[in-house]
Amino acid sequence: MTESDAWVPDEVDVTVPNAARVYDFALGGVHNFKVDREFWERATSANPHAHLVARANRSFLGRVVRDLVSGGVTQFLDIGSGIPTLGNVHEIAQEANPGARVVYVDIDPIAVQQSRSLLAGNPYARAVEGDLRKPEDILYRDEVVEFLDFSRPVAVLMVAVLHFVPDTDDPATILATVGNALVSGSHLVVSHLAPEVTPEAREKQEQARRLYERTPTPVVIRTAEELEALLGDDFALLEPGIVAATSWKPDPDEADEPPQPTALVAVARKR
Ligand SMILES: C[S@@+](CC[C@H](N)C(=O)[O-])C[C@H]1O[C@@H](n2cnc3c(N)ncnc32)[C@H](O)[C@@H]1O
Repeated sequence: MTESDAWVPDEVDVTVPNAARVYDFALGGVHNFKVDREFWERATSANPHAHLVARANRSFLGRVVRDLVSGGVTQFLDIGSGIPTLGNVHEIAQEANPGARVVYVDIDPIAVQQSRSLLAGNPYARAVEGDLRKPEDILYRDEVVEFLDFSRPVAVLMVAVLHFVPDTDDPATILATVGNALVSGSHLVVSHLAPEVTPEAREKQEQARRLYERTPTPVVIRTAEELEALLGDDFALLEPGIVAATSWKPDPDEADEPPQPTALVAVARKR
């Protein structure tokens, strides 16, 4: 290890940049290492507004959870939940409904460890380690099914994680498997990296994307059409459809945030 921190699980390699820790640094968190910070500096020099994309994504997550809770959703399965930071799903959901249940899932041991530590003493939220590319291992695991009641609607959140699933892992089948586990009236929330609009910006984005090829979780950029195709027939897109995160039901105090077309979002309902 290059930085000696007693809190780091043994299996964690702190010499290779990692998506959870890079995003934690981008949002101002402290659970990251030199290699992650240097990686983010390189990514932002290739793509200077990357931090605005991260902020727009996180802000969307807060708004959509508030929206779903106010619409009566009481159960959340947050896959690719990340290292806890400001505005975590259980905090937002349980502020409106103290009985709302949340299961956090992440492939990264630090994200799971930090989530567990934050959730100690919270009877309605838990964190498990899991891989979205193996959805059955998440959906039918005892720790999950004894905590969430899948005979009632569940909101599955895949916020800024589906772009870490390459086409070779068949994301459409992954979403169909998730859909099969949910009853009608459940929700699927997705945010996803999308192509930049101008050729100059696309070139910078491509430089940043190539950097991610050196991490354990390379990034796949998908268009709105590709994202809609992944949702398949099980899910009906809700208004306002697939839009930039900054355009999804913006709060009045966020209306001036610069638009971020590269963070696309979709909220869909299981038919
Ligand atoms: C950019 S962070 C997003 C965190 C949070 N969802 C948010 O939007 O604020 C992406 C997270 O997805 C996790 N991740 C990447 N690939 C994954 C996979 N196959 N299964 C589960 N989690 C994964 C990373 O470890 C990281 O914590």
